[in-house]
Amino acid sequence: MLFNNIQRERIRDLETPFYYYDLDLLNETLDHAKHAADKRGFHVHYALKANFNDRLLSVIQSKGFGADCVSGNEVQKAIDLGFTADKITFAGVGKSDKEIILSLQHGIFAFNVESIQEMEVINELASKLGVIAKVSLRINPNIDANTHHYITTGLDENKFGVPTSELETAASVIRQAKNVELIGLHFHVGSQITDMNVFKSLCVKVNEWKNWFEERGTQIKVLNVGGGLGVDYQLPDDNPIPDFETYFEIFDRFLERAPHQEVHFELGRALVAQSGSLITKVLYTKSGVKKHFLVVDAGMTELMRPALYQAYHKIERVDTDQEPGVLYDVVGPICESSDCFGKEVPLPQSERGDLIAIRTAGAYGEVMASHYNLRDEVRYLYSDALNLSPSL
Ligand code: LLP
Repeated sequence: MLFNNIQRERIRDLETPFYYYDLDLLNETLDHAKHAADKRGFHVHYALKANFNDRLLSVIQSKGFGADCVSGNEVQKAIDLGFTADKITFAGVGKSDKEIILSLQHGIFAFNVESIQEMEVINELASKLGVIAKVSLRINPNIDANTHHYITTGLDENKFGVPTSELETAASVIRQAKNVELIGLHFHVGSQITDMNVFKSLCVKVNEWKNWFEERGTQIKVLNVGGGLGVDYQLPDDNPIPDFETYFEIFDRFLERAPHQEVHFELGRALVAQSGSLITKVLYTKSGVKKHFLVVDAGMTELMRPALYQAYHKIERVDTDQEPGVLYDVVGPICESSDCFGKEVPLPQSERGDLIAIRTAGAYGEVMASHYNLRDEVRYLYSDALNLSPSL
């Protein structure tokens, strides 16, 4: 149950829809991840793209995570929220000159470089500024992450990284580039990966390419294996925290690393997904010829994942303990048929004004919101406000 009876009273009259963030669960999740990583000497950079909400980011920063950014604005936000430059990486296939310059000026830890041409541009811009850019080369290892095809990234056909056939050229460009220092190799094969064998295969590839570089006399300091650890969208109430132990253990066992080599991760979803829920109110109930609909006041504009990837999110009533008795299609107000959060969702008999939670929405939820249909800005509620403020 997301809310106890007192909390239910407190949220009843709040304006909806809003994202609810459970900061206790966030803290607990982060502690699990940090503990499992620290004891193996691993470094985790949180992927801001999953959620760059200031409040969440501040908690993440305070726990000692680094920041993995994919735009100049994300780099700037990380700096503004207290991440030190030496813990910031900048990834992405399309870094603009302006974004590269900003990151060079801040002196970030490393650029994850996605093409030979990008390497040349970074070298040129770094030379103009009179600085050395530290870079990791993103290699496309051609691994199938067995996940939704929109979020798989490590196949030959994907736009990400340098294909292995171009590594010889990349290595020689790097050797000649005076203002670029290669510190690492970067891999990321996809997101929402639940099959741990994918990470084993990744380790094999990382070992292979690390050796390839070392045989050619290039020492590699950082092995960045990306992110991608999936979460259980079924959200078992008793265990919402992803299994970080098993995940990190795979890399500990299968990655061959010398004592001087650091292992870096870029986790996004697994750190924040379970802590967020989208709370929405039933506006209308409709019974079609074959269907019962609940029209709610949140739409694909607040949470796009179901419309975009047919993603499953658990849907439940948050204001009653009644057992489900009706199958509803839960749909939003946006003028698109894909604006549907779930079909034939078992829920208690519901009425106008009832409150619904769409769970596991802490990652790639709020950040992918849009203004389509000129919708309102996204609203939030944090669990500490609910626990402490009697006036809510
Ligand atoms: N590193 C790189 C290079 C990435 O491209 C990503 C995610 C991550 C790290 C973080 O991956 P995570 O640990 O969160 O799986 N919007 C989609 C997910 C897109 C993921 C993009 N890249 C969704 O809602 O499922």
